[in-house]
Formats: sequence, structure tokens, C-alpha cells
Amino acid sequence: MNIQTIMVIGAGQMGSGIAQVAAAAGFQVLLHDSSPEFLNRGMLAINKQLSRNVDKGKLTPEGMSEIVSRIQSTEFVELAEQADLVIEAISENMALKVLLFHRLDSLCPAHTILATNTSSLPISEIAAVTGRPEKVIGMHFMNPVPVMPLVEVIRGLETSQEVFEVVYELSQRMGKTPVEVNDFPGFVSNRILMPMINEAIFTVYEGVASIESVDNVMKLGMNHPMGPLELADFIGLDTCLSIMEILYDGFKDSKYRPCPLLRKYVKAGRLGRKSGQGFYSYQ
Ligand code: CAA
Repeated sequence: MNIQTIMVIGAGQMGSGIAQVAAAAGFQVLLHDSSPEFLNRGMLAINKQLSRNVDKGKLTPEGMSEIVSRIQSTEFVELAEQADLVIEAISENMALKVLLFHRLDSLCPAHTILATNTSSLPISEIAAVTGRPEKVIGMHFMNPVPVMPLVEVIRGLETSQEVFEVVYELSQRMGKTPVEVNDFPGFVSNRILMPMINEAIFTVYEGVASIESVDNVMKLGMNHPMGPLELADFIGLDTCLSIMEILYDGFKDSKYRPCPLLRKYVKAGRLGRKSGQGFYSYQ
């Protein structure tokens, strides 16, 4: 299976980052979003990020032009017919993903692999709406994509060994370190990360320590680059809550109960960096 053209669906933070690293690795990239505004924003983010690398002397201006020229932005999902691999990075909404995978299955040639960057939704359930569950797989990148080396490569129940190997090697070609994971709620990354973040929120909620103190303990005591509350703001508090709900629902275990303070913040529209206010203010 020779992958040359990759379509990335969703030009948000994750999708644009994935498009950038795929183009930098030499693949032809189709970056699709149904919103022209998001598409422009995604292309701008890629240009800005690459320009910074040029300023730092890590990339030549010619190198940057080559990378950008390999990315074609498009509002037409129908171009998926040209893709050898599709990586979906739309919002974490099962109903939307199911609709999209059903459509992709009808648009793409038989050899095309369909990957999802979902952070916690079940791969096997997404695969089940296609006629090619053996070619559906999870490729979970971390934010910011150009910086974080990990990709969780998640096998759905029906994912074939051949597809797994293709995606594993392709992740390496994209400069990432793939880790093999099976399809269980939260996979590995969020099964471990989110309960830590949730516990940090409980620690503030119960008055054990202030927001800054909790973050300082984890940054200075455990060498984490960001404290858990700063990281929660970075990821998005709505995303953190939705992942905790998936863990709670998936395992039916009270240890995954989302902290009431997290719910309260999300209900109030305090979503972290993206809304300008979370545990910290970004005004
Ligand atoms: N996009 C691209 N590159 C970025 C970037 C971004 N958004 N933000 C920072 N960088 C780059 C900088 O350009 C810089 O590159 P150089 O070393 O080449 O100069 C490098 O990252 C370091 O950046 P800074 O010096 O500005 O800042 P920093 O040292 O504080 O690092 C950070 C920033 C990399 C984000 C760091 O704080 C960090 O690693 N934080 C934790 C991130 C993390 O845990 N991510 C996973 C989140 S969970 C997830 O994604 C999965 C999920 O399902 C929820």
C-alpha cells in the first residue's frame, strides 16, 4: 500500500498541525474544511508556524515554499476520491463523525485507509458505519502537533494487520513515534492524563490549594512542562469534560466522575484559552 496523497479533514488546531507535518514529510496534502473561514485560519496558522521556523534558521524560505505548495486547501470533501489516506480531525461529536465516515466510504477508492484523530471515541463504532472496517484506524496526535512526538495508533476490532503496519510506518515517516494501542475508552493517553487533570480540579474544588499552587507542584515537583490546570485550559475544558464523561460512561467506575467545578466552568462558557477564560484569564 503506497501512500502518496493524504486528505486531512478539519482545519482546526489539530487538522492544520497534521497537514503541516504530513506536507513537511513529503506527502501531497488535501486540507478540507466545510467552513472557508476555518480553512483560511488553518492555512494562516501553518504559514505562521513555518515562518517562525524560517526566522529561527531551522527551515529555508525555499523549504517552506515547498511544504506549503504540497498543501491544497479545499472546501470539497469529494476530493477524497484522490486520497490514499484520510485523517479526520473534526470536532469530537460521534454523530458528525459517523455521517462523515459513511460519506467518505462512498467517495474513496477501495484502497483508501480512513483514520480518525479522535481523542476518545470508539474506533470500532466509527468503523462499523463503513463497508471497510478493516481499513479504519485511530491516529491520535497530540497538541501542538508539530512539537509533540507521539501518535497513538489505535487498532479497532476489525483493523487489519496490514493497515496497522502501513499507518505505523507512515507515522514514523511523519517524524513521529507511534505507539500501538487497543480500542478502549480514552485509549492510553487520556485514560491517564484526564483523571490527573480531573484530580487537580478536585484539589482546587476542595480547597486543598490554589490554582497556581497545584500547577506549581506539578511543574516544579514533577517536571511537567505545564501544570494540569494550565494544560486543561490549553486542551479546552469542554474537551476535558467530554473525555471524562466517556471514561465514566465507558467503565461505569466512580473514579472517573467529572469534578463538579469542571462542569460548572463548562456550563458558564469558561472553556480555557479558546474562550479567553478558564482556570486562568487570557484576555
Ligand atoms: N505549534 C507549533 N509549535 C509550537 C507551538 C504551537 N502551537 N507552541 C510552541 N511551539 C514550539 C515553539 O515554536 C518552540 O519551538 P523551538 O524549540 O523550535 O523554538 C517549542 O515549541 C517550545 O515552545 P516555547 O519555547 O514557546 O514554549 P514552551 O517551552 O513552554 O513549550 C509547549 C510549549 C510545547 C506547548 C509545552 O508547554 C508543552 O509541551 N506543554 C504540554 C503539551 C501537552 O501536554 N500536550 C498534550 C495535550 S493532550 C492532547 O493533545 C491529547 C488529547 O486528546 C487531549
